[in-house]
Amino acid sequence: MASTDLENNKIFAAVLVAGIVIMLSGFIANKFIPDEDLEEDAFPIEAAEVATAGALKVEAVAEPIADLIAAADPTRGAKLSKACAACHSFDKGGPNKIGPNLWNTYNNKKGHIASFAYSDALLAKGGVWNVENLNSFLWKPKKYIPGTKMNYAGMRKPEDRAAIVKYLQTLR
Ligand code: HEC
Repeated sequence: MASTDLENNKIFAAVLVAGIVIMLSGFIANKFIPDEDLEEDAFPIEAAEVATAGALKVEAVAEPIADLIAAADPTRGAKLSKACAACHSFDKGGPNKIGPNLWNTYNNKKGHIASFAYSDALLAKGGVWNVENLNSFLWKPKKYIPGTKMNYAGMRKPEDRAAIVKYLQTLR
């Protein structure tokens, strides 16, 4: 009886060792052999694709500000509007400069100042200024309205755009 047990144990141990050897050789093979091939072929392509996808995503649309508007501070928006002041006045009845006066722009039609010579591109856009389209326009004016006369690169930070839009909402 006891010697049979011993035989069984030996067989079991042999199978176990064989299994471990097979696992280890597989592990070692995976670890060292294919890496050389993959590193040159697969990985850089994948990395390039990820980088391209990332860049496209960043380029495509302005980050939404709808959720930021409620907490946005119009006083901060007024301060940020200094970046616009070379071209825009914001007070009621203020003059047009390089750009139109911006009093009562929010919720008003695009091209709301009758005495200002807007670009055809802006007038053709049509509709009313709201949170969503002001966000897009102020993010990258020439992306939202290709051909606009507004030569301004845009505001990158969503918090800044939210503050400006909140400020524009108060000008009525
Ligand atoms: C370099 C001058 C310049 C700067 C700086 C500038 N704008 Fe403009 N803006 C313009 C011009 C010009 C137009 C008219 C665009 C057209 O007709 O295509 C315009 C149009 C607009 C309109 C549309 C008004 C309407 O009646 O439909 C808004 C809103 C606006 N600007 C907001 C801003 C804000 C906010 C800033 C600052 C963050 C800013 N602009 C900075 C020149 C400028």
